[in-house]
Amino acid sequence: MFFCLAPARYASAQQASVGLQLSAAKNTINKNIYGHFAEHLGHCIYEGFYVGEGNKTIPNTEGVRNDIIDALKKLKIPVLRWPGGCFADTYHWKDGVGPRADRPTMVNTWWGGVTEDNSFGTHDFLNMCERIGAEPYLAGNVGSGTVQEFTQWGQYVNFDGVSPMSNWRRKNGRDKPWQVRIWGVGNEAWGCGGNMTAEHYADIYRQYATFMSGWSNGDHLYRVASGANAGDYHWTEVMMHNIPLDMLEGVALHSYSVIDWNKKGPATGFSEQQYFATMKQALRMEELVTRHSAIMDKYDPKKKVALVVDEWGGWYDVEPGTNGGFLYQQNTIRDAMIAGVTLNIFNNHCDRVRMANLAQAVNVLQAVILTNKEKMLLTPTYHVMEMYNVHQDATLIPVTLSTPAYVSGGDSLPAVSVSASKDKNGDTHISLVNIHPGRAQDITLTLDGAAYKSVSGRLLASAQLDDHNTFESPDKIKPVAFNAATLKGGALQVKLPPASVVVLTLK
Ligand code: AHR
Repeated sequence: MFFCLAPARYASAQQASVGLQLSAAKNTINKNIYGHFAEHLGHCIYEGFYVGEGNKTIPNTEGVRNDIIDALKKLKIPVLRWPGGCFADTYHWKDGVGPRADRPTMVNTWWGGVTEDNSFGTHDFLNMCERIGAEPYLAGNVGSGTVQEFTQWGQYVNFDGVSPMSNWRRKNGRDKPWQVRIWGVGNEAWGCGGNMTAEHYADIYRQYATFMSGWSNGDHLYRVASGANAGDYHWTEVMMHNIPLDMLEGVALHSYSVIDWNKKGPATGFSEQQYFATMKQALRMEELVTRHSAIMDKYDPKKKVALVVDEWGGWYDVEPGTNGGFLYQQNTIRDAMIAGVTLNIFNNHCDRVRMANLAQAVNVLQAVILTNKEKMLLTPTYHVMEMYNVHQDATLIPVTLSTPAYVSGGDSLPAVSVSASKDKNGDTHISLVNIHPGRAQDITLTLDGAAYKSVSGRLLASAQLDDHNTFESPDKIKPVAFNAATLKGGALQVKLPPASVVVLTLK
C-alpha cells in the first residue's frame, strides 16, 4: 500500500541550514559521474535502444531509435557502459561484427535464457555513442574470454594501421578507429564474472592490463578493475595493494538500493517502511564512497586512480507479468529521491569518484527511459539527471549542512541532501533534496559573502511517493519552475516541499 505525501499545510516545516564555502571550491565534478549503463538484458538493447534497421514504424538511425538518441543528447549523457554487467563475461565480441546474417546466436544465460542473435554489436554500439555524443566504456570478457580476444577487440576498435583486426573492421564498413579509451577488465569478478577471490582477480587483472594497448590512442587507456560489492572493503584494499598504480586508472564499486535481495518489494504500491528502507540503502553510498576512498588514499594519496561506481540505482521486484530475468520496473518519485541524494554524494566526493553509471539506461532497473513499441517515456530519474547536468565539469563548492531527521520506525535518516558547484560562466548551482515524505524544509543558505543578484530554480515533485509517468500520461511528472527561493540580506531562503528535488541557479 503506498501512502500520500502529507500536504504541507497539515504538518509544519522543519528547519535546515546550508553553508556554501565558495572560497574552498577547487575540485572538478567530472561529467562522467553522470554516466549510464546499457546491458544486453531484457529490453534494454533489443526493443529498447535498438529496433532494427528494417523497422518502418519506429523512426530510427541504423536501427537505433531516434527518440532515444534525442532524449539522451538532451540529458548530456557523457559516457555509456556496454555490453554488461554479467553479460560482458559471456560476450564474444567477434560474434557481433560482420554481416548480420552470418552472426552466430548464443543463449543469454544470465538474463532470461533468451536467444541473443548478436544483431547489435560493436559497430552498432560505437556508432550510436558517436551519435549521442557519449564516450563509450567497453566492458571486456575476462570470466569466459581470453587475453587474446580482449586485446584483439582493442586492436579492432582502435588501430589505425594495417593489421588483421583493423583490416577486418574496414571490411565491415568502418575506416577510422573509434578511439575507445575506457575499458572495464571484466565485471563483478567476485560473482558472475568468475567467483574469484580478490587476490586471484588482482593477478588476472595485471595479466590483462599488461597486454592492453591504446593502439592509435597514444596508449592513454583508462583501465577499470572490477570492483567491490558494496561494503567489501577487503576487495578494494587488495586491488590497491596488489596492482601497481601505473597499471590502473579506475577501481569499480557496485551498490544497489535494494531492501532485501530475497524480498525486494514492488516498484509501485510500496509502504512507507519500504520507502524508508530504500532511502537508507541509497544514503549508505556516503559511507561506501568514504570508506573505499580512505583505503585508496592509503595507497594513492595523489588520487591518480578513480573510484568508478559503474553500477548503482534502485532494484525492486519486476513488474507483475513480466519476465523475471528482464528486470523491468516502474520508476517513481522514490527513484527521483535515490537519484538526487546519490548524485549529491558523488558530487561531494568528486576528488575520488570520477565516473559512475546508473543501472540501467532503458527498460531495466532504475531506467531513465521506458519504451513500449512506438511509445517512449522519460522517468522521474531522467528528469533529476537532466536537472543536475548543470554540475557536469563544474567546480564543486563544498557545503556545510545541518539537517533535521526523517524518523520512521524508530530509525532516522538525514532529511536534506545538498551539493553545489560553480560552472564555467560563473553561475552557481545548488541541488537540494528533501526525502521526508511528510514535512517541508525551510532552509537557510549562507553564501560566503557572495553578492548574487538573482535566483531561479526547477522543482520535481508529485502528490504521492509512488507517482510515475505512464505511456498514457508520460508528462505527469516533469520539472516545473520553482519560486520558493528568495535572496535576502546576503542569504538565501528556500522552502523545499516534501519528497522533492530542487536545482537552483544563482547569478
Ligand atoms: O545491472 C544488472 C546486473 O547487476 C549486472 O549485470 C551485474 O553486474 C549486477 O549484478
